[in-house]
Amino acid sequence: MNQILVAIPVFDDVLARLREHFEVDSCGDAPITARDELIHRLQGRRGVFVAGTPTIDAALLDACPDLRAVCSMAVGFNNIDVPACTARGVLVSNAPGVLTETTADFGFALMMATARRIAESEHFLRAGRWTEWRYDLFAGADVHGATLGVLGMGRIGQAIARRGALGFGMPVIYHNRSRLDAAVEQELGARWVDKATLMREADHLVIVVPYSPASHHLVGAAELALMKPTATLTNVARGGVVDDAALAQALRERRIAAAGLDVFEGEPAVHPALLEVPNVVLTPHIASASLPTRRAMANLAADNLIAALGGGAGQPPTALNPEVLPLR
Ligand code: DGY
Repeated sequence: MNQILVAIPVFDDVLARLREHFEVDSCGDAPITARDELIHRLQGRRGVFVAGTPTIDAALLDACPDLRAVCSMAVGFNNIDVPACTARGVLVSNAPGVLTETTADFGFALMMATARRIAESEHFLRAGRWTEWRYDLFAGADVHGATLGVLGMGRIGQAIARRGALGFGMPVIYHNRSRLDAAVEQELGARWVDKATLMREADHLVIVVPYSPASHHLVGAAELALMKPTATLTNVARGGVVDDAALAQALRERRIAAAGLDVFEGEPAVHPALLEVPNVVLTPHIASASLPTRRAMANLAADNLIAALGGGAGQPPTALNPEVLPLR
């Protein structure tokens, strides 16, 4: 039996499935965060089960010559150097598709909570500060009928756009490197615009673009300066796509109305200036965290490991570099 390492905590039933095919070293309840320990525990192991962490780069691969498959239960794979894996004959898989609708639900909910000031008003109530009904108490922005701006129009972006257009009567504008087919644009009522127009015209901007060096600080001070003072910004993509320091300053100076953030540069650390401004809703990277979806994500990573290394029939279903198959 091949040996694998499960480097992050995972459902017991998924672990049990993996144990039917592999000798499993599991991290239990404590993710392996120290790089030395990760390298040590990967010796002699052919596969590793990860998510958006830990980092798997060329140096780690060179230090772990037995490794043949890196299977992630996340859709984002910016923690994994795929070209370095491919060059060494190591298979990489991620978990696309199964989390699209759940992540879109959350993105929409976070945008609504941001626009309607739900977190801020809840803190106010819990602090015992509610003494009277007032016409302007936590008056925010409307969502229905407002212009939804989507930055990054992949599967999740389209699912958010669909919610806005069909459920809330929102005109949708989007910016993406490639335009959608005309038929999809028509179904979503979505209009492609350049990035500056997106910033200027969106009432509610939702960011769903994957992180890469090319998308680092895609939204920084210059882009924020284009936004309406009444606009909101929601990030359910990856930390680093937004310049968190510039965003905190824009929020503090009320140059935009509010933000909703599920991801952060350097998370789980959060920029201290963001913790000090009231007009931001902060959540700990939970956009895909419904129980059924997290289980589906974990099972998809397990399917990939089993197909790649566990003697399972067929190809790993969501391999990012199937050209390395069959594995050495
Ligand atoms: C993903 O799947 O990429 C989520 O952000 C969890 O990491």
